[in-house]
Amino acid sequence: MSDLTRRDLLSRPVEHVDIRAFDARPVIDQYRRTAIQTRNLARAADICSEMLADRDCTVILTLAGSLVSAGLKKALVTLIDSGMVDVVVSTGANMVDQDFFEALGFRHYMAPGSPEHPVVPDERLRELAIDRIYDTYIDENELRVCDRTMKRIFDQLPARACSSREVLTEMGRFLDRTHPDAESVVLSAYRQGIPIFVPALSDSSAGFGIVLHQVSASREGRESVSLDSGKDFLELARIKLASRASGLLMLGGGVPKNFAQDIVVAAEMLQEDDAASARARVSEDGTGTATPAEVSMHRYAVQLTVADSRDGALSGSTLREATSWGKVETAREQMVFCEATLGFSLLASDAWHRRAWEGRPARRFADWLEERAGATM
Ligand SMILES: NC(=O)c1ccc[n+]([C@@H]2O[C@H](COP(=O)([O-])OP(=O)(O)OC[C@H]3O[C@@H](n4cnc5c(N)ncnc54)[C@H](O)[C@@H]3O)[C@@H](O)[C@H]2O)c1
Repeated sequence: MSDLTRRDLLSRPVEHVDIRAFDARPVIDQYRRTAIQTRNLARAADICSEMLADRDCTVILTLAGSLVSAGLKKALVTLIDSGMVDVVVSTGANMVDQDFFEALGFRHYMAPGSPEHPVVPDERLRELAIDRIYDTYIDENELRVCDRTMKRIFDQLPARACSSREVLTEMGRFLDRTHPDAESVVLSAYRQGIPIFVPALSDSSAGFGIVLHQVSASREGRESVSLDSGKDFLELARIKLASRASGLLMLGGGVPKNFAQDIVVAAEMLQEDDAASARARVSEDGTGTATPAEVSMHRYAVQLTVADSRDGALSGSTLREATSWGKVETAREQMVFCEATLGFSLLASDAWHRRAWEGRPARRFADWLEERAGATM
């Protein structure tokens, strides 16, 4: 049994990779003439630069897996602050348990040893109130502060059904007021008007927060906030309809991957619905017909994943397969089968240094959604 104390175990913080501090372009250039996943990574990097150069394209970033806790936060913040991303779709863990958590002043810590040869047994970690993600430690007491802060966020929201995007906006507003110097995806996105959608928000620290909020509201006889993932889907589909073209940069798979892909189909259905009601109006006054314009598939798509395509599950399903569902065009899609902490720093550094993003218009979809709120979505 190790005699390391709690203090020892929570003493070496994970530092975040700065993609501006090194130039990955020569690496990617060499990878272009190699094979297997490095060549795939180089092609993915080329597609990313093409997507950023396309001024018509709304860029949607999707996040799953433990990315922020693993040291990718600064890279994600750089993408957002540089205007390389217009929409984020994420798991709750990345945005709440990890990003918002760090913005509150907490850190993730490097565990000693390796997961294969743990220095400290997990039973001992439990006694010390330390949580583990693979080779990373988290102070459970600090996570509880995050849960309770989330309760306060829900307390501040209007007592009605909210999209996760509205909750994430409120979290950004809270950080802007209380932790203005934090390096945070949630804070940067709030300031840049970039909406963040977390379709399964309850499956995170926010879930504990909303449970506490709803129970205390009920005890005090007040109405409470509920989460409306249908509203998320509608808002995201409206963004798709408002965009001339769209592209996906996906880290990991899971709910964010499918949610972002499905908006093509949802947008199509909305379009058909709008056209049908227009037709009904038109035939009433007999002045012609209204046909829905076609909704384009995602023009660009890149995914970094460790999932296997052979199990038929979503996380490893190829982007080519998504074409059969009418979601992604085949011309500019690339799967890269690699662990995201390895591949993303290179991909993002390459894209940042090639600077195709310079001069991209700021779409500020969060402001646009706020303006539409109240009007029919
Ligand atoms: N991951 C966590 O640490 C954690 C913690 C608390 C809650 N949750 C919740 O659990 C649910 C699942 O989230 P999740 O983040 O674990 O995603 P997930 O396990 O659903 O990940 C989806 C898929 O993405 C791929 N993937 C994940 N990490 C990857 C990586 N580093 N590189 C390449 N591919 C990768 C894998 O194929 C995985 O099957 C979410 O609702 C989340 O909020 C997760």
